Amino acid sequence: MSRQWWKESVVYQIYPRSFKDSNGDGIGDINGITEKLDYLKELGIDVIWLSPVYDSPNDDNGYDIRDYQAIMAEFGTMTDWDTMLDEIHKRDMKLIMDLVVNHTSDEHQWFVESRRSKDNAYRDYYIWRPGKNGQEPTNWEAAFSGSAWHYNEATDDYYLHLFSKKQPDLNWENPTLRKDVYKMMTWWLDKGIDGFRMDVINFISKDQRFPDGEPAPGKRYVSGHQHFMNGPRIHEFLQEMHREVLSNYDVMTVGEMPGATPEEAQLYTGEERNELNMVFHFEHMDIDSGPSGKWDVIPWLLKELKDILSKWQFALQNDGWNSLYWNNHDQPRVVSRFGDDGQYREKSAKMLATTLHMMKGTPFIYQGEEIGMTNVAFDHIDDYRDIETLNMYEEQLNKGHTAEELMKAIHVKSRDNARTPMQWNADEHAGFTDGSPWIKVNPNYQTINAAFALNNPDSIFHYYKKLIQLRKTHDVILYGDYHLLEADSEALFAYTRTLNRTGLLVVSNFTKEAQSFSIPDDCNIRNLLITNELELDESSNDQITLTPFATRVYTYTL
Ligand code: NOJ
Repeated sequence: MSRQWWKESVVYQIYPRSFKDSNGDGIGDINGITEKLDYLKELGIDVIWLSPVYDSPNDDNGYDIRDYQAIMAEFGTMTDWDTMLDEIHKRDMKLIMDLVVNHTSDEHQWFVESRRSKDNAYRDYYIWRPGKNGQEPTNWEAAFSGSAWHYNEATDDYYLHLFSKKQPDLNWENPTLRKDVYKMMTWWLDKGIDGFRMDVINFISKDQRFPDGEPAPGKRYVSGHQHFMNGPRIHEFLQEMHREVLSNYDVMTVGEMPGATPEEAQLYTGEERNELNMVFHFEHMDIDSGPSGKWDVIPWLLKELKDILSKWQFALQNDGWNSLYWNNHDQPRVVSRFGDDGQYREKSAKMLATTLHMMKGTPFIYQGEEIGMTNVAFDHIDDYRDIETLNMYEEQLNKGHTAEELMKAIHVKSRDNARTPMQWNADEHAGFTDGSPWIKVNPNYQTINAAFALNNPDSIFHYYKKLIQLRKTHDVILYGDYHLLEADSEALFAYTRTLNRTGLLVVSNFTKEAQSFSIPDDCNIRNLLITNELELDESSNDQITLTPFATRVYTYTL
């Protein structure tokens, strides 16, 4: 397996709207990010992934782009962005930008033209179909509720939108559109960025027969997904993008891919295939979703989590590469989800971080994760801002669900759990803004904030810092083979990594009870690398007891 800088990097994701406001309008901005670069440098990260900062009417907080080559006014100017990039590079960090090319905003000039008539130059930039017996062309559902088709009066037909109706899908079958996308990507790369995170990039090739979707039992995706996830021409399009654009630069790429399997990920990331470096899969993000989808919250099982993450480790062991993440701007906070956000918040946050960061792959940290930020539970739907949450609430109320049960699911799963402002300090609005924040701050900011974390050597922040440093000094963390231990345990997540004569043993307790663990024979002589426990019970050499949510990492010689 080849050494690559992006395999040896740790990435930090910034959701700009919620990171740091520099001008008091209540909305995070680019100058706010620049102010905080020293904080990120202190943490030790290598790469920043910036969620969209392009001009947008903000139907979906910037994932609906009106102009790919302009900065959203609320976030600042292109000059601010240039300064930010310079400052990032000065600190020896890199920047990857979000590339959202499955769809644009309906206010993008291409769509404004496209919808005007059936015979204009941009008509084929989007996906248009006639209705079927006065109905939508197919039964496909949008991720943000309702049909995935929207009627357009001027042309008397429908356009496809897999997300909101203000996010029309681009038609990748059209070579002119593809060329325009590649031109835009090249323009950004020439400005000096270091790569892209590609939004739902495995949705860009649709089955051109446009069949109805089968309502799959136990499905966790919307109807129709089998006809656009990993579609017929996806590999061809990605290879073309690589040939035309990416191969000319030394950059990092990560494709967001709901519904991707490890077998598909081998094709997307195989070294000889010239597509992408790594993908974000969602299998481990689905373990608490029931048959009716993400809002159908069910208890999750540690065994399922281990099975999934291990399957991905094995599949990409020799060729291809994994991304590693617990959190992003679309997911609940991991300490609330798979840890304990009460008594064991700090300890379980460190345990989760260790379990993930010691695996093989490139770790991604989402803003606030490094200080153990938690989910939020606003009482009123009016305090929520996310389009997915708001549309679902309205649709399900109309279908007869009670506000109470919907709020319960929202508290667990809403994307706004990840979007409350970054908690910088104990001042008003957590030091995020001097104005009035666009979304309320989590009321726990007085105890959970970056200022406290920086001052406390035992904080989650300093623990992440240590994990990042270990990766820089131990090749086994980067390139070692993965072996799962105690596969059936519902309490422990244990594995080893091995590279040449070096072994790494990782044991984590996912429960509130003490657990004992038998050390495998070949690790009898070992060195403790990192732990979240203050006092270790080392009374026996081959049997250890892990206190609630404890984690330990040892190295040993093979
Ligand atoms: C995935 C992004 O992560 C999410 O935030 C967005 O709403 C959809 N793609 C649509 O762009």
